[in-house]
Amino acid sequence: MIDTTENISTLRREPLVEPAPGASQRTIRRTVRDDQICVLTFDRPGSAANIFDLRTLKELGEELEFVAGAPQLKGLIMTSAKPSIFIAGADLEMVSAAASVEDGCRLIDAGQQVMNRLASLPLPTVAAIHGAAVGGGCELCLACDYRVASLDRATKIGLPEIQLGLLPAWGGSTRLPRLVGLPKALNIILAGKTLAAKPALKCGLVDELAPAEYLVDVAVRMITRGKARRPAHWLVNNGLFAAFLAVRLRSQLLKKTRGNYPAVLKALEVVTRGISKTVADSLLLEREGILELMRTDVCLNLIRVFFLQERAKKRSLPGAAPGTEPKPIKRAAVIGGGVMGAGIAQWLSARQLPVILRDINAAQVAKGMANIAKVYQEGVKRHLFSAREARDGLDRVSPAPTEVPLRRVDLVIEAAVENFDLKKKIFQRLDELAGDETLLATNTSALPISDLAAGTRRPERVLGLHFFNPVHRMQLVEVIAARQTSPETLQRALRFVQQIGKLPVIVKDSPGFLVNRILMPYLIEAGNLFEAGAGVTALDEPMLDFGMPMGPMRLLDEVGVDVAFHVAQTLATAYRDRMVMPSTLNKMVHAGLLGRKSGAGFYLHSKGKDPRPNPQITAYQTSHAEQPSPVTLQERMVLLMVNEAARCLEEEVVTEPADVDFAMIMGTGFAPFRGGPLRYADTLGAAKIVGAMEYLVDNGAAHFAPCSFLRRMAADGSKFYPSK
Ligand code: NAI
Repeated sequence: MIDTTENISTLRREPLVEPAPGASQRTIRRTVRDDQICVLTFDRPGSAANIFDLRTLKELGEELEFVAGAPQLKGLIMTSAKPSIFIAGADLEMVSAAASVEDGCRLIDAGQQVMNRLASLPLPTVAAIHGAAVGGGCELCLACDYRVASLDRATKIGLPEIQLGLLPAWGGSTRLPRLVGLPKALNIILAGKTLAAKPALKCGLVDELAPAEYLVDVAVRMITRGKARRPAHWLVNNGLFAAFLAVRLRSQLLKKTRGNYPAVLKALEVVTRGISKTVADSLLLEREGILELMRTDVCLNLIRVFFLQERAKKRSLPGAAPGTEPKPIKRAAVIGGGVMGAGIAQWLSARQLPVILRDINAAQVAKGMANIAKVYQEGVKRHLFSAREARDGLDRVSPAPTEVPLRRVDLVIEAAVENFDLKKKIFQRLDELAGDETLLATNTSALPISDLAAGTRRPERVLGLHFFNPVHRMQLVEVIAARQTSPETLQRALRFVQQIGKLPVIVKDSPGFLVNRILMPYLIEAGNLFEAGAGVTALDEPMLDFGMPMGPMRLLDEVGVDVAFHVAQTLATAYRDRMVMPSTLNKMVHAGLLGRKSGAGFYLHSKGKDPRPNPQITAYQTSHAEQPSPVTLQERMVLLMVNEAARCLEEEVVTEPADVDFAMIMGTGFAPFRGGPLRYADTLGAAKIVGAMEYLVDNGAAHFAPCSFLRRMAADGSKFYPSK
């Protein structure tokens, strides 16, 4: 339910662009038309986004006073001049760790006052929405009489506050249920959803749709209807039904969130109690609720994740000369049209890039193309593409069952099977086929990229671009620098990843890179604990309680036991001192128990049903001795991730703790509310971690030896992050 990795990105923060000297500092432009309709256009100077900070709220308040004091006006239209954003919500800096409680209160009060002023205007008001109207932007729309939205992919309307550990508190928790009815409102608020234009119309969140260029014309027509009368929703918007929903949903939500996301329960309480109160009293509940949530660690961590995403969107290579932009990637080729290759080709083609998809024969290429078509079809169903966009996207992929010239291609991404000798041969051939400036990237999960580069004539243009599975859902891409990769290659690749709307993290070439390196000790430990007698659910449940999106055994099944085995083996070979493979995985691969793709692994998988533990799998256990408690199992699995994460920092696989945390949250779903493994380590304190690990070492588990980084921190009491 809390899929922070995906949904949080629908929120935006203004790009850090200073307004040009002399430019108007006002965000809102007022025009009074000949027909006495006032249009307020949001256009924040020097920024691609409109947001609500205190200054903009004050400005809006002044404009509303002007409107209220001009009896000749017939109506008011709110619109935006930005190409893809209506209003992206409140200024999150004011609720982040950097802000004081007083700042937070001021922001809530100012927002509520201005939305109330808008809602109480005597003349008809319309929000003409093009682009993202989320959070406070959506609440502004809710305070208007009518809403018309553009039929554009950029248009998204909703209340994603829950994703940040908050609840809508500028009237969203009060006005949305009064507009669309309690069940639909809860569906949006509790999941932190944003809706595309068509679903927004269907649910009653907007009243009409129009092409972007006619929005204002349609809004003018809507004004002639006079003030809107809100639908009554008698059957669902009453205290009795609300109380029933509150009880029913509370237990469901507790089960889903395991108590890790207090905002969900608080929002449920505020919305269901508020519905039978006056608007003013319901707004008071919103205010109390958000103030309670705002300073919780959960909220602060989720906001940090949001800022880390924003940072990744704009990041440059450390030391890159400002202002010198690398040549953009205009044409690409993908070698290997399997799970990953097809996924990557689809993503690139959807981002307007022509892509060659090369595989060993026509049948394999056709399979890849069919998978690309499937992702596009699903995208059309989810309103991510129009049918035409999907067709055009598919047309941009050129199937290549035989060798084709690659001279005019800017980037080749190799995604053939995970076999070093094969990849080495492919790279040697690519080196001959590609142009001098073509970047050569591999999507390998764990093979040494520097060794692949060494087999080419121009190793400085070779690097790793490690996408995650499924490509169309996972936003993270590890940009991996081999020993020989030039800074120019890296910077160009970094920009490319940003250009295609993914989130990069720069990583040094070393076994498993960053994410798999930290994840594998955890999965290997889970495998060993299983072998020693711990049950499948006994291992998965404590990790779900910890906040992982799925437990380790289920993850092994989803990734594919064979794929995980392969990667784990590479790591176990590289780090023999602390990673010892359980024999179970190899045995399962030989028995064809590959997880979801073969229908059975640690779980049994059948279409349309939840996986259930595979009763036969206990045959692979070598002991059925009494097992440690869930808390101990959880501690063992988590400590190994923390230890490996600290090692990655120590060995400079990445340069900052935030890179580790960001990559683990985005790449594995590591409990976002805990802020990542290193932020979590800070919460516990290094001394406690080292103490727990040494205890395990003393009791025979030598692979728990804490790394020297953690030991040093335990000794001097330091933390990964500065306190605040
Ligand atoms: P896959 O087995 O689904 O696809 C591999 C494709 O490569 C097949 O279609 C095969 O016919 C083709 N191929 C083999 N030799 C080739 C050659 N000489 N030229 C062109 N194509 C050739 O494998 P998958 O899962 O897509 O993995 C590809 C790469 O991505 C591997 O290096 C893997 O480690 C990595 N990776 C896999 C992830 C996953 O979850 N499956 C996640 C991230 C990386």
